[in-house]
Amino acid sequence: MPLALDTSQGAAELAESLLPPLGNRWLHTQAVAARAREASAAVPEAERDLLVASAWLHDIGYAPELRDTGFHPLDGARHLESLGAPDRLVRLVAHHSGAVYEAEQRGLSAELDVYDREDSPILDALIYADMTTGPAGQSFDFDRRMDEILDRYEVGSVVHVAISKARPYLGAAVERTRDRLRSDQPM
Ligand SMILES: [Fe+2]
Repeated sequence: MPLALDTSQGAAELAESLLPPLGNRWLHTQAVAARAREASAAVPEAERDLLVASAWLHDIGYAPELRDTGFHPLDGARHLESLGAPDRLVRLVAHHSGAVYEAEQRGLSAELDVYDREDSPILDALIYADMTTGPAGQSFDFDRRMDEILDRYEVGSVVHVAISKARPYLGAAVERTRDRLRSDQPM
């Protein structure tokens, strides 16, 4: 029986079966998973492995064989659902890194709304890991990552508009994660 997809090992195996041909996207994913592991003290102990699993899987919707709507958080979440993945993992992938903002630009809000967004330390930490990792796995601070995305996509394009609107939301999630990592409070 394959490993559960909400474990870091099961998630890593699925990611590795889909993403290596994508080059940089695979480097990015591996680095986001490592970053999520480093940030795992920001979430309750029982959720740390789920955080790392969601990091492994957050971008699987970019795999060509999963492409359906062309909106990767939704395509990734639907694929995980079709594999019987636990709901919480599906919802984290659907809502990673401000997906609602891009869904709005793409006219896919209703499709994404099928999945509830949990506003929680774990979603914040997933955003933190993704938004402090560059497109080829580099370690970037948040502002550099934002600028890099805005540079990569044309002004007025769906992603450019969505990221510009999402920036305060994403920055707040990164800040909350940093605060949790700094505090001595055990989660
Ligand atoms: Fe993504």
